[in-house]
This record gives sequence, C-alpha cells and structure tokens, in this order.
Amino acid sequence: MERTIEMMEIEKNWDKFLSMPIETKISHFMREGRIYDCLFAQQFNREVLEYIFRIANTLRRITKTKEGMNFASSLLNHKRAMLYFIQPSTRTFLSFLNACHILGIKTSEIRDASISSEYKGESPEDTIRTFSSYVDLIIMRHPAQNFVEKSAWLMNRTKRPVPIINAGSSKDQHPTQALLDTYTLYRSFGGVIDGKTIAMVGDLKRGRTVRSLSFLMENYKNMKLVYIAPPEFKMERDVIDFLNKKNISYYETENFEEGIKEADAIYMTRIQDEHDKSGESKKIDYSKYSFTKKHLDIIKKDAIIMHPLPRREEISVEVDDDPRAMYWRQERNGMWARSALISYIFGVDAKIHIENKA
Ligand code: NCD
Repeated sequence: MERTIEMMEIEKNWDKFLSMPIETKISHFMREGRIYDCLFAQQFNREVLEYIFRIANTLRRITKTKEGMNFASSLLNHKRAMLYFIQPSTRTFLSFLNACHILGIKTSEIRDASISSEYKGESPEDTIRTFSSYVDLIIMRHPAQNFVEKSAWLMNRTKRPVPIINAGSSKDQHPTQALLDTYTLYRSFGGVIDGKTIAMVGDLKRGRTVRSLSFLMENYKNMKLVYIAPPEFKMERDVIDFLNKKNISYYETENFEEGIKEADAIYMTRIQDEHDKSGESKKIDYSKYSFTKKHLDIIKKDAIIMHPLPRREEISVEVDDDPRAMYWRQERNGMWARSALISYIFGVDAKIHIENKA
C-alpha cells in the first residue's frame, strides 16, 4: 500500500497510530509482502496460515532424523533472538526457545524486569531498543496493554529495526497461540476447518487467547462460534463487533452443557484472575464452566477438547486419557507452528522442500 503524507504523519505520533484501526496498521508491520512484526491475529490470511502449517508439518517430519535436524538448525544459525518475558510463562517461553533452537538461532532471555536496567529507572522503550543492539529478533510477553505494539512501532523508526513477535500482550492478544490453536484444528480435522463450530468457554473477557482465536476465524467459511461464559466474563464488545462486521455467526450462552453439545472443538480457559482489581473472580461459580468426565458423554464423538494451558480445575485430569483431549498435542504443536512462523519471517522457507498434505 502506498503511504500518503497524512499516513506518514500519523506514523510518527504513537497515540494517533495506536488509535488507527488494526486493518490500517497492518501494512506498517509487513516487509516485502510478508509479516515482519507478528503482533495481531488479523495479520494472518488464509493463504499464509496454511502455508505456515505446511512448513510446520515439514519441519516436524524432517527433524526426526539427525541429518534433517542438522539441516533445520543450519537455516538460521547466523541469527540471535532475545526472549523478553516479564510475565509468567512456561510453555510459550519453552516452545519459542526450542523453536529458535530447532532453526539454529542462539537465544538470550530476560524473565524478570527487576533484574534488568528497568530497575535502575530505564524506560521500557529504551530497554527494548537496547536489545536490538545485540539480537536479530525479539520475542516478547508483556503485562502492559499495547506495549508490544508500541515496541514494534518504535523499533521500526530506528536505524536497526528487528522483528518483534508478540508472545502474549496483556489482555489484548496472543497471536501465536491462535496460530497454534488453528494449526491444531487443521491437523485434527484433516485440513478442513470450514463449517466447524467452536465453543470457547470461561473468562472470555480477559483471555487473550480466545480473542486472538476469534479474530483468526475470519479466514474460514461458515464458522460458528459459541461463547460460553458467566455474565461477568462475557466476550468484549470489540470482538463481537468484529464478528458482526465479518458476518461470522456466533451465539452467547451461560449454559455450558447446552453450548458444548454441538461443538466440533471445545476450547476451555482458566479465570484470568491476575487482572482482578479486588478479587472479584472469587465470587464467581466457575465449576459450572468446568469439563469433567461426565461431559465426555454429551459431546460429539469426534469433537476435540482444547486448552491453551495452564489449567486449574476447568478440565479434570480424568479427561486426559480420552482420545478427544487435544491439549497436550496442542502444546507440542506450538513449538512447530512457532518455528514455522520464525522461518517464514526470515524468509528461509524457500530453502525447505515444503510438503503439500494437511
Ligand atoms: C495463555 C496465556 O498466557 O494467555 N497461556 C499460554 O500462553 N499458553 C493462557 C492462560 O494463561 O490462561
């Protein structure tokens, strides 16, 4: 897209830039027709999604042998990445770390702002700029709303920009989780996601994974979303407006059993009580939104049960042995989807002989 003078002015002013609709901002985070900074689920179109899934399938197959692993780890062994995760994380951190290592990328990490120079009073913006002096990629999880986006915006205005991947930003978005969730749907349904009913359950208001996944669903035809949540945790208005605008059918209910019956995928989530102001989520009876053994009998025979993890009581451990429980596989899919995304961002996909099958 050609940039107008007005657009260039807006790009210089963060507050103005932030207030622009995401569709307008997307081009700012692309290079040579590709995703450069991966910040929002809306950056993925169907073609890119399915291409990344095929890269992921290929990487996981070829790395089964030592020769294949040597090949994969030669793809980006001239690059370094910084994992800046100053919010708790186990699997997203580990899966990104290992995704980098699969491709040969060397990694460094900060997981606690109190041991970085931010503690000495450095602004988070300067901290991010510092990373770019040492590395070629920043993968970032941050508790402040829009901070990941702001970092990418800032970085793109420096002389040494490096791509930024959003590994979970406050309550806003978690695009790579949506990528791996969709990859899981793709693998579970033999490559056919169109026409499926996806039930999302729990704290939809503050869960960034369900927000990003909802945005990604615009890439598939005849989808039906079922939002199952207590009134306090209903999906936010901006997502509902998005679904209406894109003609994606959805309905909202408080009735868990009713909502999961017809679903092809049931996506459970935990209460995001780290966002509580004064323990308000303690008052909510979350047991009504928990998947237990008895629910295995009421869902479809070929439905899948998903969860971004970590879980608490939303899925009882007795469910784990059912073949429809997909969350552990979903977790592993994350590493492959993320290594595929990173290879795509750096353009080394051209060196991989990518397979065609779903
Ligand atoms: C999720 C997150 O951090 O948003 N976890 C993850 O990345 N797998 C979900 C959660 O913490 O509930």
